[in-house]
This record gives sequence, C-alpha cells and structure tokens, in this order.
Amino acid sequence: MSVLPIRPDLLGHEPYGAPQADVPVRLNTNENPFRPPPAVRRAITEAMAGAVGDLNRYPDRDARRLRLALAEYVSRQTRTTVGAEMVWAANGSNEIFSQILQLFGSSRRTALGFEPTYSVHRLIAENTGTRYVAIRRRDDFRIGMADAIRGIDEFRPDVVLVCSPNNPTGTSTTLDDLATLYDAVASRPEGILVVDEAYGEFSSHPSAVGLLAGRERLIVARTMSKAFAFAGARVGYLVADPAVVEAMGLVRLPYHLSTLTQVAAVAVLDHARSMQRGVAELRRQRDRIADFARERGLPAAESDANFVLVGGFGDSQTVWRLLLDRGVLVRDVELPGWLRFSAGTAAETTTLLSALSEIIDVPPEPAKRRRHGPHS
Ligand SMILES: Cc1ncc(COP(=O)(O)O)c(C=O)c1O
Repeated sequence: MSVLPIRPDLLGHEPYGAPQADVPVRLNTNENPFRPPPAVRRAITEAMAGAVGDLNRYPDRDARRLRLALAEYVSRQTRTTVGAEMVWAANGSNEIFSQILQLFGSSRRTALGFEPTYSVHRLIAENTGTRYVAIRRRDDFRIGMADAIRGIDEFRPDVVLVCSPNNPTGTSTTLDDLATLYDAVASRPEGILVVDEAYGEFSSHPSAVGLLAGRERLIVARTMSKAFAFAGARVGYLVADPAVVEAMGLVRLPYHLSTLTQVAAVAVLDHARSMQRGVAELRRQRDRIADFARERGLPAAESDANFVLVGGFGDSQTVWRLLLDRGVLVRDVELPGWLRFSAGTAAETTTLLSALSEIIDVPPEPAKRRRHGPHS
C-alpha cells in the first residue's frame, strides 16, 4: 500500500479487522448465536423471492416501508412515539456513523469519544477526515461527568459519541448523564450528541430515544445486528429529529440500501418478538460468565450488553491464544490483562468456561507464572 498515493492522513493506518477464524465457538464479535427460526427464514425467503422480479429497478431510495416498520418497532420497544420521519436506515450502524460523520464532521471538525469504547468510532471519524479526541473513562468504565464537561469545554467537539451500553465494557450511561452531556454539547451551535445503542435491547436502562423530544441535536444509533440476530444482512438505523433525517439525504449514496436488504428487514421486523427470543437467554449466559470470573477473583465489568469484559489475566494475549487452541475465539480488545467474551448459547458458554477453567487453574510453568500473574 505504501507505494500508493494514499491521502496523507491515512498513511500508516491499519484496516479494521477483528480476527475471523473458523473455529467451533466464536465469541469474539458480539454476534447473536441464534439462527433465525424456521418461520422467520420462510418469511425472509418469501419476501426476497417476491422482490427478485423487480431487481431491474433501483431500490426505494428513501426506504419508506422499512423506516415505517423500524419506527413501529422502536415505538413499541422504547415506549416512545416515533414516526418514520424520525428514522433513517443504512447498511449497518457503521454506515450510519459514516453518514453522520460525513454530515457533521470533516477536516476542520472534531469528534470526541469516551475510551475504552467501540474502536470503529475513531476509525470512521478518521476516514472522514474528522479529528478524533478521547477522554478516558473512570476505572469502573463509567464516564466521569466532570472530566466529560471539562473535555467538551476544552476540545469544543462538533460530534460527541457515547456508546451505551459501551463496547467493550458493557457499561451504560444513565439518561440523566446523557441529558447533562447533551446540554454541554448543544450549548455550541455545531454540537451533535450521538448515542450508540447497538446493544440497547440487552440493557436494563431505558433508551435515549426517550430523550429525543425537544433535543434536535441528539441522534440515537441502533442496529438489527445484535438483538435481532441479523448481522449478516447489514441493517442499522438512527432515530432523531426529522431535520437530521432529511439532512442524511445530503451524504448517503443514491440507492445505498438494496431492495433485498429492505424487504428482508421488513419481513424480520414483522417477527420482532421471535427474532429476539434469544435476548433473555443471552443475558443469562452473560451473567454466567461474569459470575464465573468473580468467583475466581477476576474482575468482571458490570455489563448491560451481550458480552462481558473480564480482567485479571496477567498475560491476556496468551490466554487468548490458549482459548483459540481449544477452539474458542474471544476478543483481545487491547486492554492489557482484559479479554472480552460474547455470550453464546448455553453450550458455547459452557465450552468457554471449561476452557477457561483449564487455562487459569492449571499451574503454568514457573517462567509463565511470573508473566501471567496469579490468575492466569
Ligand atoms: C457499539 C457498536 N456499535 C455498532 C456496531 C456495528 O453494528 P452494525 O453491525 O450495525 O454495523 C457494533 C458492532 O459490533 C458495536 O459494537
């Protein structure tokens, strides 16, 4: 790549890439392990078959049926009235962030995040030429509000991104704190607050969609990848003031969301309840992982999502590799000593916990013992 005349601000960057490996137990990308139930598969197949004859035509550029179906779903799920004019859809919430940063970021603008957080926020900011600055979360991974207000004062960000529940820590930010952040961000004419609720359905906290009334510069980004078990289809959306939705038209590529994606997503939204039947089970498996860790004296971050961040692994890279040797792929989120485990099916979670027991309970060789610390 280095011989190519790439934009100077991207030189030296690495492509995003969580390692993908064909192993029996994949707990590395917070996917939903449950496959679509047969009735939903049939509905998707029929909807797509019905659309195939029209593939000579471009899709509905404004995805009107899908946005209406999403609005109905969000209204039910968040108990807040949301109309289709408040919803915008794209190929995954990553494309939503990309469109948001194309619209509200750029080379003379700044985005601010609270790290550790979803690394793609920084990546997309940088891809759109937006300067990205980060404020560290507290040791318990919550956002320190005094630090946040100070940082917003200092960096004067145009876009502030809050991931809640936060990936990779699982930490939620309360609606009160989000409202306080909004006031700080929106006190500048350019300020936009984006709340990433990719894991919202797993959370015990109410959605920030409930804060939208009267807050024209708040955007709530959500996805069908996690609770809906629909990651392969690539459907994400935002909920915001209709003016934000209208403005998305300035940056989206014409016909960005294929007809097949749109009809498949509408079919799935008709079966929202059965597609999301795994949510309660995944919360149970998440809690199993956290309990397992804490019983062994390993710190586990309080999680409101479908994964748990566990620490106390002296040499987390070695533990990651030893798990992979046992057919279990987890995520090294580059926080030394910590690993992130997605909740799997009960059987997958059992395999993970058995493998972890072997790794952390088998006495390591003396040299390794020093490097791994007491828990690994
Ligand atoms: C916090 C967060 N936001 C957004 C996404 C991306 O989701 P999508 O599949 O909708 O692009 C992820 C995926 O892991 C995520 O963890």
